[in-house]
Amino acid sequence: MTTTRGLEGVVATTSSISSIVNDVLTYRGYNIDDLAMNASFEEVIYLLWNDKLPNKTELDQFTAELAVNATIPKEIVDQMKAYPIDKVHPMAALRTAVSTLALYDEEADDMSEEANYRKAIRLQAKIPTVVTAFSRVREGKDPVEPKKDLSFAANFLYTLTGEIPEDVAVTAINKALVLHADHELNASTFTARVCVATLSDMYSGVTAAIGALKGPLHGGANERVMAMLSEIDSVDNVEPYLQNAFENKEKIMGFGHRVYKTGDPRAKHLREMSRKLTDLTGETKWYEMSTKMEEVVTNEKGLPPNVDFYSASVYHSLGIDHDLFTPLFAVSRVSGWIGHILEQYSNNRLIRPRAEYVGSTNQTYVSVENR
Ligand code: ACO
Repeated sequence: MTTTRGLEGVVATTSSISSIVNDVLTYRGYNIDDLAMNASFEEVIYLLWNDKLPNKTELDQFTAELAVNATIPKEIVDQMKAYPIDKVHPMAALRTAVSTLALYDEEADDMSEEANYRKAIRLQAKIPTVVTAFSRVREGKDPVEPKKDLSFAANFLYTLTGEIPEDVAVTAINKALVLHADHELNASTFTARVCVATLSDMYSGVTAAIGALKGPLHGGANERVMAMLSEIDSVDNVEPYLQNAFENKEKIMGFGHRVYKTGDPRAKHLREMSRKLTDLTGETKWYEMSTKMEEVVTNEKGLPPNVDFYSASVYHSLGIDHDLFTPLFAVSRVSGWIGHILEQYSNNRLIRPRAEYVGSTNQTYVSVENR
């Protein structure tokens, strides 16, 4: 038996949803650069789930379905109010709320293809509302009802703030959502697939995936990046901070990747957004510190930034609370998780690898009095 730490290089399934070949990322064969520059997030969700871009009628219908399903049950909000709210991380709240949503969905355990597609829409539509409702509840405010005539990206900002967002913010959020939507067999997507391969339900798969995304080696890195930038605080402090981190063999959040070796193709879009948005807010130091960090970490460690690095200064510039960065990642990535869950169901086999046993052998049981 041979083992590969962290399953590096192991090809665990076939998939026709997204691919990373020679550091180029595509969704259903469309280059991420093309989609980031041109597509709405609604189109991308449709693409991931249906293997084709929607025509105008299909897109209008799909957008309307998302909009009518965006409201969350009042019980979810009541439950949030009962959380020990000042101690609860929004990712933990999201994980709990998504699991709870299943209790209010009569089709939760209906495994038919049609019911699964309806649940997919409900989950995709409700998850942003859960995130923004939690954010408002913890500030002592009432959740805001999503508007049926706003886009997915605009509704995220509207339900967060209660104000109709400016176009520049909507464009930035839409692009970030497109860039985070899917990423081949990343840790949270693999988690979702393992879960539903037991023929468990979609809510279980998405709840499990949220748990995997939360960790700092995966989606949790974007919040850590902002904490690091805040700690560094000025361009002059970047070099000494990094030299100290290198000496202590610390991981620099937002750098490195298991699959990309020459660079993450998503990072350049976020870098450019960071430049534009910090220019608009006047807080250019976040962009300047970030580019300085990129220069030093790339030169000295050969590690390029990943998707999480520049998304931190982008979200900060949009006024989003730092602990909502990873939930915002989930708002997008749920589209990919669901695409993979549907793909798994369509050609399922239990995922059950082996472990190479390296523990003690030939032990003899000794009764507790004699130990
Ligand atoms: N900072 C410093 N050193 C690093 C970093 C980093 N960010 N990333 C990798 N390295 C070094 C490791 O210390 C290790 O060095 P060594 O061989 O001398 O021990 C070597 O590069 C290989 O690193 P691994 O951790 O084994 O690489 P792996 O493929 O397992 O991990 C990961 C990839 C988790 C992304 C890693 O690069 C990391 O921890 N990055 C920081 C966290 C992060 O940004 N996560 C988000 C990833 S993107 C996403 O999930 C959305």
